[in-house]
Amino acid sequence: MTFNDAKGLSHLTRVTDLKSTAITFILELAEALKTTNSSPLLLKEKSIALCFFENSTRTRISFEQAIHKLGGFPIDFKPQESSLAKGESFEETLHTLKALEISAIISRHSNDDFSKKIAEYHILPVVNAGDGIVAHPTQALLDSLTLKSKWNSLEGKQILILGDILHSRVARSHYELSQILNYNVKVAGPEEWIPSWAKQSITKDWKSFINDFDAILCLRVQKERMENHTTNDDYLKNYTFRESELKKIKRPYLLHPGPVNWGIELCESALKHPQCLIHEQVRNGLYLRMALLSYLLNPVESKKWKNNNGP
Ligand code: CP
Repeated sequence: MTFNDAKGLSHLTRVTDLKSTAITFILELAEALKTTNSSPLLLKEKSIALCFFENSTRTRISFEQAIHKLGGFPIDFKPQESSLAKGESFEETLHTLKALEISAIISRHSNDDFSKKIAEYHILPVVNAGDGIVAHPTQALLDSLTLKSKWNSLEGKQILILGDILHSRVARSHYELSQILNYNVKVAGPEEWIPSWAKQSITKDWKSFINDFDAILCLRVQKERMENHTTNDDYLKNYTFRESELKKIKRPYLLHPGPVNWGIELCESALKHPQCLIHEQVRNGLYLRMALLSYLLNPVESKKWKNNNGP
């Protein structure tokens, strides 16, 4: 059901590591953990290292909280305060963590293939919490959990991804997930921010068709991945989701992975709109990450728990 390496370690580097049956299981387990408000000890006494080379609030804290709630111990590995700063290699760092009885590593890094490289060492299971501009699999999965709770299934749904597609690891993970869960991704954004993989999916004049979409996912303008970026008038006029668009929406749900640059991607009053799911996304991140870690690190007991408590 999942990508197991030659040593039998289960990793999540991209959503494509998971078969659709595994994704369905994780989403159903997350829903069951949420609705029963349960904290089964599926990670009992497991220590899991969080290794974030980039800033984070939602992803990092939700993983930490998920590990706590499941009876495990989150270990805060601070790269800049570790022996990496003295020149120790990452491979040797992984061996060191393993010798200290760490069960898995959760990583975020600006390099596109960072978690894949960790997986290739075959030392510890790795969960990707954001790699460069290519993958943020748990964000796409938690967005799917959020939308699934509204529709039951994502199959055939039309999702517009809006803004800075090029620098977004969330957009890329959604594109991959859409091919597994059979939803349709359209994109709209400045031409220079449309990567090659999204060119077939461009929607011009998205504002005229706003109620044709089932969900609209606004993306953060990722200034830290650009040189000399200033948000220009063209962006604000054509791609900011403003009050005028907010007034029109009836059908689509409104999402944003956060953090939001208010007034650039989205007007602040969106938070009060009944179709806005931004805070639900954050909450669902906790349950999705509880389910994912349980599935990867304790699949047998996770299945037993879900059989007794889930659909
Ligand atoms: N969506 C997301 O990854 O947010 P953080 O950077 O706060 O983790």
